[in-house]
Amino acid sequence: MKNPVMLAAGILGTTGASLKRAAQSGAGGVVTKSVGVAPREGHRGPTVVQVEGGLLNAMGLPNPSYHNFQEEIDIGREGGVPVVASIFGSGPEEFVEVAEGLEADGFELNLSCPHAERYGAEIGCEACNVEEITRTVKESVAVPVWVKLTPNVADIVGLGLAAQRGGADGVVAINTLKAMAIDVESGRPILGNRFGGLSGPAIKPVAIRCVYDLASALEIPVIGVGGVSSWQDAAEIIMAGAAGVQVGTALGGVEGYAVFRSITEGLSSYLDRKGMTLEELRGLARRFS
Ligand code: FUM
Repeated sequence: MKNPVMLAAGILGTTGASLKRAAQSGAGGVVTKSVGVAPREGHRGPTVVQVEGGLLNAMGLPNPSYHNFQEEIDIGREGGVPVVASIFGSGPEEFVEVAEGLEADGFELNLSCPHAERYGAEIGCEACNVEEITRTVKESVAVPVWVKLTPNVADIVGLGLAAQRGGADGVVAINTLKAMAIDVESGRPILGNRFGGLSGPAIKPVAIRCVYDLASALEIPVIGVGGVSSWQDAAEIIMAGAAGVQVGTALGGVEGYAVFRSITEGLSSYLDRKGMTLEELRGLARRFS
């Protein structure tokens, strides 16, 4: 990639036009919305609610299926940066069916969505599943395979090591934190699914800790995601050990797509000011143990 700042899965990655626009706005790579074997409507609404420090979502993996998604990837590729397809399945067979059915520059295995029955974190919280699914997909495709990990476990490093044993080219940390909001007038859970996943600034310290632990234990690259909305956030997660950075919830902020350029330019001025390379910045905080 020409720069390490990417569009995260699930944000604006439903259409080729939005993937292309993220690329043209300065993203170094873009990740699609997660796609599976069959079309899904997702959870009933409300599917997103703003809370203190971020957004709570329970989309429920809505997608048109891989059968109807190649065109979006192809349009996204017109942006001139790698398009990584985020894919999900209920087990190795479904993951492989989707991966073999799509042509993308890489795959990000969603083993971490916190609110979809039989998918995501329900299977991705077990290291043996992570290893088996990663290995099976890796054996079926010739492009890089990343595994997006759930933070909703006691030991995220165990999951990262399982992905590495399965042959992953990188891990992506973190997906959202399982969370809930209740309307105090009615007493009703606000999201249609009752609980969902928290993203945005509130989860950044959790992401920093997870990236730090993973980068200390793994030999493969760790891509950091979670609450990054400025070049300072990007620098922080790189100092924790991230080889790349994904931006998600911040796309809904005042900067919109311009956030990619402001992060990449800010990071590059910072590196110039410090007289450092990105490589020298990576993992800097791990020297202070
Ligand atoms: O589409 C989704 O509901 C994805 C959620 C996730 O991976 O967090």
